[in-house]
Amino acid sequence: MGHSRTILGRLILFPFLHGFILLCMSMSTPLESATLSSGNTFGSETDRLALLDLKKRITRDPFHVLGSWNDSIHFCNWVGVTCNPSTKRVLILKLNSHKLVGSLPPSIGNLTHLTGINLRNNSFHGEIPQEIGRLQSLQALNLSQNSLGGKIPTNISHCTQLRVLNLYSNHIIGSIPNQLSSLLNLNILWIDINSLTGAIPAWLGNFSSLHELFLPEHFQGSIPNELGRLTSLEVFSLAANNLYGIIPSSIYNISSIKNFSVAANQLHGELPRNPGINLPNLETFHCGDNKFTGTVPASLLNSSRIQILDFPLMVSLGHSLLKILEACEA
Ligand SMILES: *[C@@H]1O[C@H](CO)[C@@H](O)[C@H](O)[C@H]1NC(C)=O
Ligand SMILES: *[C@@H]1O[C@H](CO)[C@@H](O)[C@H](O)[C@H]1NC(C)=O
Ligand SMILES: *[C@@H]1O[C@H](CO)[C@@H](O)[C@H](O)[C@H]1NC(C)=O
Ligand SMILES: *[C@@H]1O[C@H](CO)[C@@H](O)[C@H](O)[C@H]1NC(C)=O
Ligand SMILES: *[C@@H]1O[C@H](CO)[C@@H](O)[C@H](O)[C@H]1NC(C)=O
Ligand SMILES: *[C@@H]1O[C@H](CO)[C@@H](O)[C@H](O)[C@H]1NC(C)=O
Ligand SMILES: *[C@@H]1O[C@H](CO)[C@@H](O)[C@H](O)[C@H]1NC(C)=O
Ligand SMILES: *[C@@H]1O[C@H](CO)[C@@H](O)[C@H](O)[C@H]1NC(C)=O
Ligand SMILES: *[C@@H]1O[C@H](CO)[C@@H](O)[C@H](O)[C@H]1NC(C)=O
Repeated sequence: MGHSRTILGRLILFPFLHGFILLCMSMSTPLESATLSSGNTFGSETDRLALLDLKKRITRDPFHVLGSWNDSIHFCNWVGVTCNPSTKRVLILKLNSHKLVGSLPPSIGNLTHLTGINLRNNSFHGEIPQEIGRLQSLQALNLSQNSLGGKIPTNISHCTQLRVLNLYSNHIIGSIPNQLSSLLNLNILWIDINSLTGAIPAWLGNFSSLHELFLPEHFQGSIPNELGRLTSLEVFSLAANNLYGIIPSSIYNISSIKNFSVAANQLHGELPRNPGINLPNLETFHCGDNKFTGTVPASLLNSSRIQILDFPLMVSLGHSLLKILEACEA
């Protein structure tokens, strides 16, 4: 009878096993949906795919930094990748100075928890994808010293947490898109050494946290009066553009300025009598290669930190400045 018992035993066991399997499934379903809704496993897989997509776009990697980007280790341990330890979502992508050649895939916009991208000093080419606008936690975008072309993507306007936008030394063309006026938290905006044209937007005056305004490019038009509202500026450099008109007097109200340069433009008018009084922190003052007239403001010499002065030839030296120069020669 042992045989039939075994059959009976199996018959009993099967519904039991089935019940066990059902139990497992009903238990894992709420767990799974919990991880899905908090974006962990699911988002993490999205991040892994996006990183692999980036790797695929990198055609040269002479230092083999992407050798570690393989499935034998979790992507959070790949070189240049920093994750949030609990969510396993990518927070920082840092692959600067590795002589990488490649382009940026649209899927970079899937790394939605990124707070910092630093791909500075490589040879990335192609355009910055519009999908970058999906990175709404991004605080630093550092793509300087590459070969990126195209225009500044308008969709960067959604990255309103951005504090650093560093695109200097690339091949970017076009004007500064008006959409960027939403980036009110920017401390650093480095976009020089590109081929940017158009006017300097007045809304830049809204970027009250900006430390530096350094825009030697191909900008045209006049210097907007609104820039005088940039009361955290230490560097005011609009040198080497095609700017005309006068320097708005509001600029001399920015007492934090250390470096002032408007050299190599077509600006005219007289330099103010009192920049040295209103700009007590001034260290360098460059205004050469313009069409200024009048005298060099003597008050500049009252600025105790001043190191470098340069003026256009058409400006005559003020009486007190001449005295000092004479004293120096004697
Ligand atoms: C994967 O990366 C690890 C860490 O860099 C490395 O030791 C290993 O050789 C790599 N495996 C493959 C198959 O490339
Ligand atoms: C750029 O990267 C190269 C290669 O790693 C390095 O030698 C060089 O010092 C870097 N330059 C800057 C300015 O970081
Ligand atoms: C990532 O982004 C790309 C392009 O933006 C999209 O087509 C794709 O479905 C995304 N992939 C995943 C796995 O989320
Ligand atoms: C470069 O990017 C990093 C983000 O990884 C940021 O912290 C840093 O301030 C940036 N530096 C410059 C000079 O833009
Ligand atoms: C631009 O950014 C928005 C907001 O993050 C996003 O919804 C949209 O998909 C982005 N556009 C493209 C083309 O990726
Ligand atoms: C920014 O500045 C412009 C012009 O200078 C002004 O019209 C606009 O209201 C300002 N926007 C914000 C958000 O402050
Ligand atoms: C400079 O600042 C003073 C004091 O805040 C203000 O009264 C004046 O209107 C400002 N001048 C310009 C030209 O913005
Ligand atoms: C500002 O001036 C100092 C000299 O006082 C100089 O070392 C520094 O490079 C200047 N910065 C810029 C951005 O011009
Ligand atoms: C220098 O500053 C002193 C006091 O701060 C002032 O009396 C003097 O007129 C100033 N000199 C010039 C040339 O501006």
